[in-house]
This record gives sequence, C-alpha cells and structure tokens, in this order.
Amino acid sequence: MSLQGAAGPEELIFYVNGRKIIEKNADPEQMLLSYLRKRLRLTGTKYGCGGGGCGACTVMISTYEPALKKIRHYSANACLLPICSLYGAAVTTVEGVGSTKTRVHPVQERLAKCHGSQCGFCTPGMVMSIYTLLRNHPEPTSEQMIAALAGNLCRCTGYRPILDACKTFCKESICCQRKTNEKCCLDQEDDLFDKEEKVSTRLFSTDEFQPLDPTQELIFPPELMRMAENQPKRTLFFHGERMTWISPVSLNELLDLKAAYPKAPLLVGNTSVGPEMKFRGVFHPIVIAPARIPDLNMVKCTDDGLTLGAACSLSLVKDILTNAMAELPEEKTKVFSAVLQQLRTLGGEQIRNIASLGGNIISRKPTSDLNPILAASNCMLNLASRGRKRQIPLSDIFADGVGNNTITPEEILVSVRIPHSRKGEYVSAFRQAPRRENALPVTNAGMRVLFEEGTDTIKDLSIFYGGAVLTTVCAKQTCRTLIGRHWNKQMLDEACRLVLKEIALPGSDNGEKVDYKKTLIVSFFYRFFLEVSQSLKTMDPCHYPGIPMEYRSVLQDFKTKMPQSIQIYQDTELSQSPQDPVGRPIMHQSGIKHATGEAVYVDDLPSVDGELFLAVVTSSRAHAKIVSIDTSEALKGPGVFDIITAHDVPATNEFYYSDDPEIIFARNKVICVGQIVCAVVADSDDHAKQAAAKVKIEYEVLEPVILTIEEAIQHNSFFEPKRKLEQGNVDRAFETVDNIIEGEIRIGGQEHFYIETQSVLVVPKGEDNEMDVYVSTQHPAIIQEMVAASLGVPANRIMCHVKRVGGAFGGKLLKAGLLASVAAVAANKTSRAVRLILSRGDDMLITGGRHPFIGKYKVGFMNDGRIRAVDAKYYINGGCTPDESVLVAEVSLLKMDNAYKIPNLRCWAYACKTNLPSNTAFRGFGFPQSALVTETWITGVADKIGLSPEKIREINMYKENEQTHFKQKLDPQNLIRCWNECMEKSAYCSRKTAVNEFNKQNHWKKKGIAIVPMKFPFGLGTRYLSQAAALVHIYTDGSVLLTHGGIEMGQGIHTKMIQVASRELNIPMSCIHFCETSTTTVPNACASVGSAGTDVNGMAVKDACQTLLKRLQPIINKNPKGTWNDWIKEAFEQSVSLSATGYFRGYNENMDWEKGEGQPFTYFLYGAACSEVEINCLTGDHKNLRTDIVMDIGCSINPAVDIGQGIGEAGLFLGCSVFFALRDAVTRVRNERGLKKTFALNSPLTAEQIRASCADDFTDMMANNESASSTPQTTSV
Ligand SMILES: Cc1cc2nc3c(=O)[nH]c(=O)nc-3n(C[C@H](O)[C@H](O)[C@H](O)COP(=O)(O)OP(=O)(O)OC[C@H]3O[C@@H](n4cnc5c(N)ncnc54)[C@H](O)[C@@H]3O)c2cc1C
Ligand code: FES
Ligand code: FES
Repeated sequence: MSLQGAAGPEELIFYVNGRKIIEKNADPEQMLLSYLRKRLRLTGTKYGCGGGGCGACTVMISTYEPALKKIRHYSANACLLPICSLYGAAVTTVEGVGSTKTRVHPVQERLAKCHGSQCGFCTPGMVMSIYTLLRNHPEPTSEQMIAALAGNLCRCTGYRPILDACKTFCKESICCQRKTNEKCCLDQEDDLFDKEEKVSTRLFSTDEFQPLDPTQELIFPPELMRMAENQPKRTLFFHGERMTWISPVSLNELLDLKAAYPKAPLLVGNTSVGPEMKFRGVFHPIVIAPARIPDLNMVKCTDDGLTLGAACSLSLVKDILTNAMAELPEEKTKVFSAVLQQLRTLGGEQIRNIASLGGNIISRKPTSDLNPILAASNCMLNLASRGRKRQIPLSDIFADGVGNNTITPEEILVSVRIPHSRKGEYVSAFRQAPRRENALPVTNAGMRVLFEEGTDTIKDLSIFYGGAVLTTVCAKQTCRTLIGRHWNKQMLDEACRLVLKEIALPGSDNGEKVDYKKTLIVSFFYRFFLEVSQSLKTMDPCHYPGIPMEYRSVLQDFKTKMPQSIQIYQDTELSQSPQDPVGRPIMHQSGIKHATGEAVYVDDLPSVDGELFLAVVTSSRAHAKIVSIDTSEALKGPGVFDIITAHDVPATNEFYYSDDPEIIFARNKVICVGQIVCAVVADSDDHAKQAAAKVKIEYEVLEPVILTIEEAIQHNSFFEPKRKLEQGNVDRAFETVDNIIEGEIRIGGQEHFYIETQSVLVVPKGEDNEMDVYVSTQHPAIIQEMVAASLGVPANRIMCHVKRVGGAFGGKLLKAGLLASVAAVAANKTSRAVRLILSRGDDMLITGGRHPFIGKYKVGFMNDGRIRAVDAKYYINGGCTPDESVLVAEVSLLKMDNAYKIPNLRCWAYACKTNLPSNTAFRGFGFPQSALVTETWITGVADKIGLSPEKIREINMYKENEQTHFKQKLDPQNLIRCWNECMEKSAYCSRKTAVNEFNKQNHWKKKGIAIVPMKFPFGLGTRYLSQAAALVHIYTDGSVLLTHGGIEMGQGIHTKMIQVASRELNIPMSCIHFCETSTTTVPNACASVGSAGTDVNGMAVKDACQTLLKRLQPIINKNPKGTWNDWIKEAFEQSVSLSATGYFRGYNENMDWEKGEGQPFTYFLYGAACSEVEINCLTGDHKNLRTDIVMDIGCSINPAVDIGQGIGEAGLFLGCSVFFALRDAVTRVRNERGLKKTFALNSPLTAEQIRASCADDFTDMMANNESASSTPQTTSV
C-alpha cells in the first residue's frame, strides 16, 4: 500500500461542547490542548506539564459504540490526545460544563464554595475529572472519587478542601461517621476548645448548593451517533506539515500498512509515543492508528481465560477483570487479581482511559507495571503479519533483553490471552514507587508458583522484575533451580541468594538506588514467600504452620482512602455586624471563575496581531566558553522570524544587585546547564521550538566545574557576605557539658512546580518606547525595573500588569524578571508582540528552586536534657548567580533557634557559588531547612540520653519573656499554649502507648509518632521592604474599584483586601471590584513574599478607605438615613474627590549583622504539629495516618482561604512532624533489632532511606553481595 494511492486529506469531524468542528487541515502533530486553546480559543483547559502528569488539561471524551448502543464517557489528558484520534468523538471542556454566563455546574459551584481552588490553575482539570466521574456514576463511592482524582495535581490547597467538595457528591456521609457518644466531627465543636472561646468548624454551607441533576447535562450529539451507525467505516488519512496519520478499519489493511511502513508506530493512546516525540526529539513521518479495528478491541471469555484485544484501554481491562472476579471462583482469578492490583495504581485515570494494553506491553518500558505480572502468569500474545499468525508467550519478548527481535517490525499484536489460575497456583504482583499513585515504579515484580497437587513441592515457578534494568527481566535460572523444592525457609534463603546473583543491575543509577532496587528484589520475594506460606496454611492448616501472627500485617498494602479532616477556627465575636465580612470564611473572589475556566492567566490572553512566540536556547554545559553560535539551520525553519542574542540587548544584559551579576543572555561563556544563550522568535510555539533545537553552539569546557556544596567548599567558592550569629560563650560551654554530639543533615533542593509555568506577553505600544508587559510574577516592580534597564528606557514607559498568577511559591521574582527581559528584548528588536510561555521541562531546567542545604552541628548538653551549647555551620547551594541566596542564608540563621532557648550558640551560614542553575526564594526562605537541622539535633540529644524527643523539646523550649540569639524580645506564651493544646487535642500520650502496643504486635510494619513545635518570625528585615500602597476609586454609581500592590497567586489576597475595604467603607463586598495589580496604578510596590502581602497591603487599603470615609463623613452626618449611593452622588455634586491612595510605611525592622543584633521581625507566629505514621519495613513504603496542627496566626481575615497558602509558609515547616514520626518508627525498628543507636536520615525522607535504615538480613545480603557496590554515575547535589 502506498501513500500516493491514498485518498486526499480527510475532513476531521468531531464535536466540542456541542458544537460541530470540521477541520480541513488536521495536523497529526497537533494535540487537542493546543487546538482548544489556540484554535478554538477555549482557554479553560490548561497547560501544566504537557506529558500527562498533572491533569490540568483534563477534558471529557465521549464516544458512541453502535454495536452496544452505548455512549462511553472518559476523562483524558488533552496534552497527549492527537486531534486526529478524535474522529467522531465529542469533547467536553470546562467551558461546556458550565459558565457564569449560563449556569454554573454543581461541580464548579461546590469546588469554589468549599474553597477547593486557590491559584485556580488546576481547578478546571479537577472539575473535569469529577464531572466525568459523575456522568458515569451520579452517586460515586469515595473510592471512585479518590481514583478519579489520582491524575490531578494541586500545588496550593493541600487537597483537603477539594476533597471536601468531592465528598458532597459521594454516597456516604461527608462526615467522619463516628457514632460513639452520638458525636461525630460535625458536632463536636463544644468539646474542642474552652467554653469561653467561640470556635467554628463551618467553612461552607451545603444548603446553598444546587442539586446535581444528570438530566441537565449536554447530550451526545445525535449526528455523531448517526455517523457511527450509518456511515461505513473507511480508512482515514490526515496529512500534516511533517506527518501523515493513517487510520485503517480492518486487520488486513493494517497488516498491509505495517508491511509497507514497518517503522511506523501503531498509535493508540499516544502515552508512550507522544512523550517520546515531545521530550526526546523522536520523529515519525507516518503513524498508523489501529484503534478502530474490531479484532484489536475484542473481548473473549473462554473456559481457561480471557482474550483481550491489544487496543483495549487499561480502564476497560480493569473493568473486565473486575467483572470476571465477581463472576468466577477465587481459585481461577488469582492472575486477574494480581493484574488488577497493578492497574489500580498505574498512572492516573486519564492515562488508563487512553493507554492501551498492547501499547504497554509492546513499548517494553522497564517501568511497565503489566509486563512482569503478565509474563509471570504465562500470558500469550497473538501476533499477526501479512499472511502469518502466531502465538508466543509474552515472556519471550524479554528473552534476550531490550531491542530483541522476537517481534518483527511488520508484526502487530492483535490480542493478549490472560489465563485463569489453577488449583495449587498462587500469583502476586508487587510495586514500589516514589508515590503510591500516578508515579512510575522504582521496582515491580510479578510472581507465580504452582505446587504439585496437595503438596508444597514447587512444580512451576516464575519470577519477573520490572524497573530494575532496561526492560522486564526473568529470574529464569533461579526458578529452574528451585523446582522440586519445598516451600520453606531453606528454599527462601536459596531463592534470595540466587535471585540476587541472577538479576544483575548495572551501576547506571545513583549508587544508592541500585542497592534499594536489589533490596526490593529480595524483599518482594520474601513477601511472596509469606503470602504463599499463609495461603498454604489456609488450604491445609494441619500440614502448614503459616506465618507468625506478628508477620501478617505486612501482607496488607497501604491503601489510599478518602481522608477525614476537620478545621477548627476562632469565630468572629457575636457583636460583629453580620455585614462585616472580616474573619469569616468567604469564598475566594475568583473561585467560580477558576472553576468555570473563565479566570484569565497570561497565556489565556488573546493573541495580538502579528504576535511572535519565543523559545529559548539553553546551555548544555555547566562551565564553558562559547566558541560559536550557528543559527543558520534554525533561521531556515518554517515560520522563523529572528534569533535574539546578547548583542540585541540595547542596554543592560547583566544586573548587579551584588558582586556577581544576574544575566539575561550568556555572552561569552556559560556558567550552568540551562543558562539562556539565545532565543528564537517564530509564528508559532511549535515552529519556535523546532528551530531552537537546530541552533548549534560550540563550547570549550572551562575548569573548574563546581556542582556540589562539598566542591564549593573545596574551591572556596561562595557568594559574599558569609554570615555569623553568636551568643554566650560557646567554647567555654562545651567544656562544662556532660555530653557532646556531632552530626550532619542534608536537605535536598525542591522544584517550585507552580502549576502555571513562567509566562510573559510583551506588547510594544508603537510610540515613545512604551510596552505593556503581562507577566506571571510576584513582583511587578522588579519586572518593570529590569525590562526598562535592559532596553535602556525610563521605567515610566514599561507598564506591568498582573491579573493573577498560577502559583509562585517564591519562584516568580528575579527569574520572572530575566524572562520578561528576554521577551522584551525580542519585542523591541522585532517591533512585534512576543509571547514566552516556558515548557515545563525548560522551566524546571532554567529557573532553579529551593537551595540544597547541609547543616553540620556540634551540640553540648547535660544529662538531664538541657542543651547548653550549639556550634553549627550551614551551607546552601546557591547555584551560578547570587539571586537571593545570601538573604536565604541570613534567614536560616535568624530562624535557626525554632522554639528553643540555647544559651550559647554560634552558627555560620555560607551561600555556595556553583555551576548549577541559580537557586532562588522558596516558601519558608531558609526557615524549613534550618529548623529541620535544629529538630534533628534535638532528636540526637534524646537518643543519646534516652529521653523522648518531646521531653527534650519541652525542656529547652522558650518559657518566659526572653531574647532570641540576636537579642529580639519575644513572649512565648502562645508557643507553649499551642504545644500544650496540640499535645492534648492529639491525645499524644495515649496514642504513643497505642503505637508501642502496635509495634510489639507487628514485626514488618511499625508505627511512629512525633510532635514538633514551631516559632515563625514574621518580618522582612528592613522597613522599606514592607511598605505598601493602595488605590481606591469610587464611581458615581457607587461601585468601588480597588487596587493595591499585592499579587494574587492563590493566597486569596484580593478577596481579603475586598473584605477589609468592605468593613472600612461599610458596604457589601459585591460593590467592590478588583481588576489587576499594575505598575501604572501602584508604583514601586514591594514583592508579595514572606507571608506579608495581606498584612501590609491590608494596612494600605484600610488607609485609603479611611481617607475616603473621612471625606464622606460630613455628607453622611447630614443625611444619616441616606444610602451609600445617595452619599456618593452628593459627594460628586459637592466636588469631593472620590479617589484616594492609601499608604503603609512598613514595619520598623532592622538587623545589624556586624553586631549580630537587631529587630528584624515584627511578631512571631507559633504552632505545633503531631503526626502518626506507619511504615512497611520490607519496602520503605509509608503512610501518614493522622496529623493534628494547632496554630496561632493572630486574627485571620479569612479562615477558609488562609488555611492554604496564607498560613502555609509558616505551617510548611510543621510537615517535618511526619519526618520525625517516620524517624521514630525507624528508631523503633532499629532498637528492636539491636542496631546502632545513632543513624542519620536526610530530607526528603524517601522510601529508599527508610528501607535502608531498617537494616535486616536482606539489606545485609546487599552488603555481602559482590556486585552490590555500584559506581554512581550521577551526582547528588
Ligand atoms: C503520565 C504517565 C504515567 C504513566 N504511568 C505508568 C505506570 O505507572 N505504570 C506503567 O506501567 N505505565 C505507565 N505509563 C505508561 C503507559 O501505561 C503506556 O505508555 C501505555 O500503556 C502505552 O499505551 P498507548 O496505547 O498509549 O501506546 P502508544 O504510545 O500509542 O504506543 C506505544 C508503542 O506500542 C506500539 N504498539 C501499540 N499497540 C501495538 C500493537 N497492537 N501491536 C504492535 N505494536 C503496538 C506502538 O507501535 C508504539 O511503539 C504512564 C504513561 C504516562 C504518560
Ligand atoms: S497532564 Fe496535560 S498538561 Fe499536565
Ligand atoms: S489551586 Fe491547585 S494548583 Fe493552585
């Protein structure tokens, strides 16, 4: 078959939100996401990652199956769906679900009203996942709800309020259903706090919710039904700029096509091919889409198993296996059950809905969760090529490792046969991933054993592993050797020895991970051994002893269940006017717009005439001289307009905020991988990116290349100044203490992963060098300053606008300024509007994140637990430019005491200069790291003298009016109150006893519990950084337009400012509108950082409103019974100005680093958190069982929006209670096993570390296994 003979291009017909789309030029490379956003201007569906990982782009796809007369609705990631795959389908986006112009759907309403949206960028995706579930199950179970959301990430809300909204749709009650004493979470307020304190748990009222009415939903387009029923199916061809799509309808046709184009992939879900094309530069000129071929969709049940078509989606496979399990006896369904177990956690629902069984098998990824279990279970593959059909065991495709030619390029997989299990056969699947759902496995396994009838003699054994090496591997020799052996301890020992020898792992990974994988390989087999031993006992209790009682709990995996939660907050005073919204849980001002997709972010702004898209070209070397830049190939690319380099910057390319510069474009040399060298502007995002990949840069490597903190210390490579704080006499104190411990903790870096990537649109206005800059930033003034400086124009020509930001967390300050400058330089050179939306990959590569941190400490203390002296050194990895690294180091010193009074203390902080992308501000700004070091030495002291960590915490906690280590006064009353209340409300003591009891009764599972206090100083260190301004206009119709210098990034600042204005002006919130933050309305605004935005801007808004009210007062006095509108009208007629600015000078904060003294903070927030966890000692898997947090945050303006990002910065540190609870569990394991008392745990505390710390016979095997010591090929920074 040849393409020449093929029919001309087809019209692609599908529906979007009930509207028919006929696309005459469907390009196979175009994904639905960009089609919706750019072509149809439906911008509610968001780009978060482009690779199926975040769910921001979730849409609902509906298809009609004429044979079954059934409509199928399923959620899918628009970023991975080629539009060509949608022929005859109906797409529903968030705009089709509901809107403020028509009707807001109950899902949208409840997400907003339950406060389930903060920055709102993930919200449309959440809406679509929930909506799709409800279309299929109007009264879902909580398990279905949790599964539906597993593919959606949210970086702001912590999920609790999202789940609150979801619970309102579930069959079960939304409360904890605790019926003891007739009290449940909803009516226990009385018991929770002192009687005189009025508290509330009510964050929303379900009475306000519209009911869900399935009859109101958009119907499936009848035309598509008719098309499916009446139109004969024919081959479809779509020709794009570079790629052709062929969708055959019969198997023979498919086989002909495959014979003609053996290299063309068969595209079903595109979840494997799509990411390879997007992220690895793989290109296929022809793709074949076989999804419409009946043979590949067949489902056949026979006496000995199930045969499933290769194009069946993983969700369909899941449903079929679930139904089969319900119908068949358990003995026959052990394979089904094991496959189902893997399917439950494979990807998210959106991935499973489109990914195919055949695609998972044939792509032979090492991370396939299905191949090990399908291979171990003797599944068969039905293959076909022109004139040939054959059946092979699935295991054959792994016989010779990767790249084997068991399947020829002309061959296709038609179907897969999954057998029933037999009597005496046991089958299990195992999996360990960094996160339970929607994360690729570190290692997985499929295992099957068949015994001689009525015995425990092994007749057949099959063990397959995945994740370990480049493909699925079989422990063939091990299995062969063990045939004929009894299922007992000797067999187990030999199996572990053999399997470790047989499965050779290359040292291709970080060395530690290889050891972890090996430990998992034997631990999984041990778990299988336990499972089978227990099953043998169930079968014949007289002959088989089973496993000890205390081993049994490890047979149960941790499950993700709908969490129960309750938030208790201080209610407003009864005397407060009901119209006064301050202190009340008001819905986020943009909540409904987030949920309907109407909220506008930078990339949602309509394109400007002649607009160009910009893609950056980044360095691939860490430290090198740029020898040449060859742009010739790139310039020839379709749609390419120009290439921008440092030479095009009219004025400032290097910004000196300290000794070392922040750089827009690398000029002569590069100082990190990911540094921007130049940029391509083209007529589309795709063209710009394709051309950027063609720019060739020649480098000459420079020495040294410094990546780690250790290397920076070795080369004395630091940003200045280094900082030190000291109080008391540390050296003398060390001479008098009973004990000294020394140690170190490493805290890894962190990616901001704000769900909206860095985005900017620069529009030159055509006269006087004026430019509008629409940018996703926390600091419009710095953007204005940097753009103006780079172009060499006064700041008054650059107008910066920020409507809202899809999450920032500290990552959208200086970095956003550099990116805006890149776009502005391009706009200046081309005189066109330029849009720069970083891809997730570029964003993660270029913009840096939280500083990796090493804390070294020496602590001196008395036998009774009193800590007398601390000598510490902190190192943070600043990366290649200063950014705010020195400030972060300073804050880590200022906040290092956390909640403790240490009489003699000395600490140095160093910001290391390395060749990593420059790190930057990140939520907590050094505090979480330095306080984690503190809490680590607290537990070290506890371990050493045998007291509990909470005792050491209590002994050393600030107790009365005292001074910090930089001589600022503090009153710790509320700290102690939070601590005591947390102890009490969490029932810490009795739960600790229960944990002890659990641990006595369980060997492989252990629990741990910990309680940690927190002092979070509030302040920015200098007065001018906390100044703020506001501008309030009253129009003659009485409506108020409010603006201020704060940025809305999810923390609800505009909602709270409207609450403040409403109180001050005594008018309803509905009369007040916020439009945007802009440098044109509020100049020189400080950055929205450090949890200070609401505090300082609130003061400015209050000031402006009070000015206005003062002007209005004479008019009000004259006509006290008048309305707001009467007074405004009168004021206008009396020529009273109805516009006012408000100003707040900032808090009087200062710090003298020479003296090591000052008042850098204005007040202190306090809190305490208690967490209880459970760990699986065999795998390191762990689960947080419960967390109680008590926080004193003063008077919250809005307890509903404050709970997330508002108080999140301080509260973020309290997450370390989980770290210490895990440490507690590990300590208990180690104590029980008589292991060394001192051990180090670093952050993040991964399953890998937990497993390695719970040393046992299996980890010992690793130490003794000669091939275990692998050479790491990656460096941990
Ligand atoms: C975000 C995300 C998370 C994921 N998480 C997991 C996970 O946790 N565990 C896991 O196991 N997998 C995971 N995956 C991988 C996913 O399961 C596989 O990519 C998917 O099953 C492949 O199916 P597909 O239909 O999308 O394949 P496609 O991408 O359409 O095709 C894949 C390959 O298979 C070939 N192929 C497909 N069908 C046939 C056939 N009938 N005959 C011959 N060749 C064929 C194609 O030629 C192509 O080379 C994840 C993927 C993503 C994007
Ligand atoms: S899943 Fe599509 S953008 Fe993230
Ligand atoms: S509200 Fe979910 S990512 Fe911001």
